[in-house]
Amino acid sequence: MVKLTDNEFLEFVQYMHKNYGIDLSKKRILIEGRLSNMIEKKGMSSFSQYLDNIKKNNKDEITVLINKLTTNYTYFYREENHFKYLKEVILPYEEKNNKTKILNIWSAGCSSGEEPYTLAMVIDDYFKFAGNQWKIQILATDISENVLTKAREGVYSGDAVKNLPESFKKRYFENINDKYQVVPDIKKHITFKVFNLMDPIIARNKYDVIFCRNVMIYFNAETKMNIVDKFYEANKAGGYLMIGHAETIQRNKSKYLYINPAIYKKEEYDR
Ligand SMILES: C[S@@+](CC[C@H](N)C(=O)[O-])C[C@H]1O[C@@H](n2cnc3c(N)ncnc32)[C@H](O)[C@@H]1O
Repeated sequence: MVKLTDNEFLEFVQYMHKNYGIDLSKKRILIEGRLSNMIEKKGMSSFSQYLDNIKKNNKDEITVLINKLTTNYTYFYREENHFKYLKEVILPYEEKNNKTKILNIWSAGCSSGEEPYTLAMVIDDYFKFAGNQWKIQILATDISENVLTKAREGVYSGDAVKNLPESFKKRYFENINDKYQVVPDIKKHITFKVFNLMDPIIARNKYDVIFCRNVMIYFNAETKMNIVDKFYEANKAGGYLMIGHAETIQRNKSKYLYINPAIYKKEEYDR
């Protein structure tokens, strides 16, 4: 087994934090446990050798590394409150006030797609009588290419879709050999893209709602606040930021208004 030395551990922690915002300072056992075998299989004898290789910015290597160190755990209708709030507060407001009939939503850290697909289904269901009058644009991003491949395919097991209402399963999936394939009418609303949240956010069209749930748990306080500030700039005035229910944003450090646990709003000043 390839051992992780004290120096290598420090170097690793610094590198991952600087480049990906991921705080691994308390994850020594996880790093060693998840990477050691792989390093050995690559024919390398130390973590330093592996890190030197990573620093060459080989995209595939970095993707594998990030996939190994983060969790992509997600499921349909996760943290239902957000979808309830969307349906009961945000969408009725938009329906009444949004003359452009365009909705811009960002699922940041979308993993294998359950979150953006839930969003698309809930919104489609809400506007079903307005038909195609509304343009629903959901950008779904993640740092990991692996999960995005699964997300783009949009094929899930029966177990994965069990939380969804029966009507959604019928309307929004095609049932093929025990698998559930998301229908093109839902897929068409979503664009999947690789994006590292440490990078600058260029939002040509600002977002009505940003979902960044269960992603910032990896980041330390400073990185998290930097990202929250970037989200604030990317949100429309009056727009929302949804974070995971186990996460918080320090109220005195952010311009967002606190609405509910895990729901924040940008002021309406210029809407
Ligand atoms: C636990 S999943 C959360 C998925 C979904 N948002 C949910 O709440 O169910 C966290 C996702 O964040 C992604 N992630 C971690 N660090 C990231 C970064 N720096 N930029 C973009 N995505 C990142 C991971 O690849 C992973 O798919």
